[in-house]
Amino acid sequence: MLTLKEVRKKAVCLLEGTEIRTARLDVDLLLGMALGLDPLEIILDPCRKVPDHEAAAFAALLARRAAREPMSQILGKKAFWSLEFKVSRDCLTPRPDSEILIESALKVIPDRNKSLKILDLGTGSGCLLLSLMAELPGSRGVGVDISARALMLAQDNADRLGFGDRCEFIKSDWAAQLPPSAEFDIILANPPYIAPAERAGLDPDVRDYEPEIALFAGDGGLKEYKKLAKIIPQLIAVGGHAFLEIGWRQGSRVRDIFNKTPAENITIIADLAGRDRCIALDFA
Ligand SMILES: C[S@@+](CC[C@H](N)C(=O)[O-])C[C@H]1O[C@@H](n2cnc3c(N)ncnc32)[C@H](O)[C@@H]1O
Repeated sequence: MLTLKEVRKKAVCLLEGTEIRTARLDVDLLLGMALGLDPLEIILDPCRKVPDHEAAAFAALLARRAAREPMSQILGKKAFWSLEFKVSRDCLTPRPDSEILIESALKVIPDRNKSLKILDLGTGSGCLLLSLMAELPGSRGVGVDISARALMLAQDNADRLGFGDRCEFIKSDWAAQLPPSAEFDIILANPPYIAPAERAGLDPDVRDYEPEIALFAGDGGLKEYKKLAKIIPQLIAVGGHAFLEIGWRQGSRVRDIFNKTPAENITIIADLAGRDRCIALDFA
């Protein structure tokens, strides 16, 4: 019977061999999941024996990771903003980069208790909508997605996190199924924006496991922004604000698209790494 230290060492070696950059962390999280231990316990008790049934459970999880399945999908969850979201192969895994949309939206809302209507176009797991709603107790939200499977996850997350009665989810090709009179104070969107030509350069964790519809957009990645530039002005309330995620090299091209809208101010905002990540639009 191997010890935890021995199992850990072999597993880290295996994952490093597949060019996974977070091998040590991943191994500790997977060991924790298989053995029902806190990752800290794994480090503090290196001589603990690993019985066969635990070793087999761990080996099964490790094989999935070695095949480049994302950790979020193996663990079935991902932290975003202050919340934990259930995730699966049916939705994009929430990315820390996207938190800039929440941060930017909160900066334009002086009164957090105000009753605001929020729309999230392409809601996926619901991470953007629900994170913003968590900060705005008087808000109500609508999440739209073309994927029925993603919407089931979003609804599940909303119910589990206690927002089920303040939001609804609608299966729609962008705004097609929204009532024509719908108006929102805040619109969030993280549309697909990767050019299909960039597919080969993506990490296998992304390319082989995340939904195509969440990743790729035609016109060199700009196709959905062109659609949203027509849709958002029709849905935004007077004095409303929209925040869209952008690819880090798309700032000027996305700005050109939104320059044709009636937005009063357009700002490109960088993420924590200093890369363009969000376009903010203020409507008068
Ligand atoms: C990049 S993911 C963003 C998911 C989530 N908002 C986030 O930030 O993690 C894009 C989402 O847009 C959805 N989507 C793609 N095309 C769409 C369309 N035409 N209408 C509505 N949703 C669409 C995808 O299903 C996917 O959930």
